[in-house]
Order: sequence, then C-alpha cells, then structure tokens
Amino acid sequence: MSSEAISVRAISKSFVRGRPVLKNVSIDVRRGEMVALIGASGSGKSTLIRSIGGLERIDPVKGSAILVCGEFVQKDGRISPSLGHLRSRIGIVFQQFNLVPRLSALTNVCLGFLGVTSPFLGSLGLFTHAQKKAAMRALSRVGVAEHALKSGNQLSGGQQQRVAIARTMVQKSEIIIADEPIASLDPGSARRVMDILSDVNQQDGVTIVVSLHQVEYAIEYCPRTIALRSGEIVFDGPSNALTPQFLAELYGEESESLFLPGMAARNSRAPVQVTAAAAAAHVNAAASLVQVAHA
Ligand SMILES: Nc1ncnc2c1ncn2[C@@H]1O[C@H](COP(=O)(O)OP(=O)(O)O)[C@@H](O)[C@H]1O
Ligand SMILES: [Mg+2]
Repeated sequence: MSSEAISVRAISKSFVRGRPVLKNVSIDVRRGEMVALIGASGSGKSTLIRSIGGLERIDPVKGSAILVCGEFVQKDGRISPSLGHLRSRIGIVFQQFNLVPRLSALTNVCLGFLGVTSPFLGSLGLFTHAQKKAAMRALSRVGVAEHALKSGNQLSGGQQQRVAIARTMVQKSEIIIADEPIASLDPGSARRVMDILSDVNQQDGVTIVVSLHQVEYAIEYCPRTIALRSGEIVFDGPSNALTPQFLAELYGEESESLFLPGMAARNSRAPVQVTAAAAAAHVNAAASLVQVAHA
C-alpha cells in the first residue's frame, strides 16, 4: 500500500485557455499528515483543493495526475470513472454551504453514510437506529449534540462547520480536504473548528489538507505548510519557518494579507528575534524553496 495519501503530479489548470491558475503543481502528502495550504486570495487554493476532490478537471497535460490513497482521481485531464467509490474516502469541507439547510444536523451527519448528500434520500428516514446513534456520537464529539434536531439554517457558521466535520467522521473519510473552513468564522469559532480538525488528525489518523487565509493558524495547527502564489508553489516545508520576514520575501506587499488584522504591521516593526531552532528551520525552508524553484 502506498504511503502517500495524496499525490499531485505536475498538474496545471486553466479556466481560460493559455492563462493557467495552477502551474505545474506537484505535492505529496503522506498518510496522517496535517498540511496547511496558504496563499493570497486568487492564488489557486480552492482550485487545487477542488481538483484533489475531483470537482475540477485538470488540464490535459500528458503525465499529469492526481492520486488519492494510491488511486487515480484524475489523469491527463480525465476524471477517473471509479471516482464515485473513491469519493467516500475523501471528506470535503467548504467555507460555507456545507449542509442541506432544511434537514436537521443529525440527518446532515447521517448523509455521510450514503457517501452522497441527496436531501431526497436523507429525508426518507432511511437511516437505521445504529446509524443515528453513530451520528449522535459524532455530533457529541464536535460539541453540537444539543443542536442535533435543529435544521442546518438554524445553526451558527461554526456549528455548521462542526456538523460538516461530524459528517466526514461517520463517512469514515481517510482524508479531509477543507477549503478555508474558518474564513467566515469569529476567532473563537475558528479555533474550535481547527481544534476539532487537529483532534481528528491526531486521534483518528485522518490526513488533512486545509486551506487557510491566515498564516497564524497554519503555524499553530499544521506542522507543514504549502504556500501558493499565482498558481505556483513557492514554499513547501515546516510551518515554523514562516516568519513575517520570510513571508515578506515570498510575497512582498501581498504578505500583509496573510496575517490576522494588525499582526503583520506589529510583526514587521518588532525587532527580529531569531532563535537557533527558528534559524535552522528557516535554512531548511530556504533549501526546500530552492528545490521547489528547481523542480
Ligand atoms: N470557475 C472559474 N472560472 C474562471 N476562473 C476561475 C474559476 N474559479 C477560479 N478562477 C480563477 O482562478 C484563480 C484562482 O482562484 P481560486 O482557486 O479560487 O483562488 P483562492 O482560493 O486561492 O482564492 C483566480 O484568478 C480566479 O479568478
Ligand atoms: Mg478559495
């Protein structure tokens, strides 16, 4: 069995011919990793995540492919015919609109048993007692059990995200790809969602790729960060190498948008404190940056 949970091989993606928004991107994520994907708005994070989930077709470049758990999601610009079966192994969490609004939180979680999110099937009361119990356990694990019978649109943004994560739990996803799951949440809710993702990663060994607009969360929760700029990987290495100075080198002016409000300015005025460990990480990061540049 391959140890790679996700393998992205030399993919490009253009919505408009000749204007690629992903340019020759290659990534390998090992099983059990928790990886942040950062980059300014428009850098290609969502397109990459959607391509990994098979929701977006990559450009038909010979030799390009995306594999999940050793199986092709797509290859040379063609989505794999067996993607349906693979999809249940991948839990996808979006920034919003994760739930069927009129169905209860409980039923939304139960939809994970079907590997589909059809409101029609879900509302027929198809689920067994055992499935509902498992769904309740998942809701309780994400701290939303008392809201189980509320409908999706009666829950706060943070609660909706937690229900979406509970759905990936009953689905027994081996991989969760989450596209800016905390972007529209207040800091407290954002933290709770990141804590839960981290718990699922550590307790259940689920591989997680999470795109984040703000680098502080990447540094705190994800040992490894992949940074995109204009559709290219400009950094792939230890998150603790992402000092404000290093980000400024990578992104120039754009780097300000990657910090929580107020942080970038404060950081750039603060005297630089370089510990030996941070300096070593920085050197490693610079080395991997060079490798990326020469790949
Ligand atoms: N469906 C689409 N049609 C045309 N252009 C798109 C589409 N989706 C994304 N893009 C473009 O691709 C680029 C990358 O977008 P996206 O992947 O959404 O970036 P991010 O998630 O980092 O903000 C942007 O220039 C965006 O305008
Ligand atoms: Mg996006």
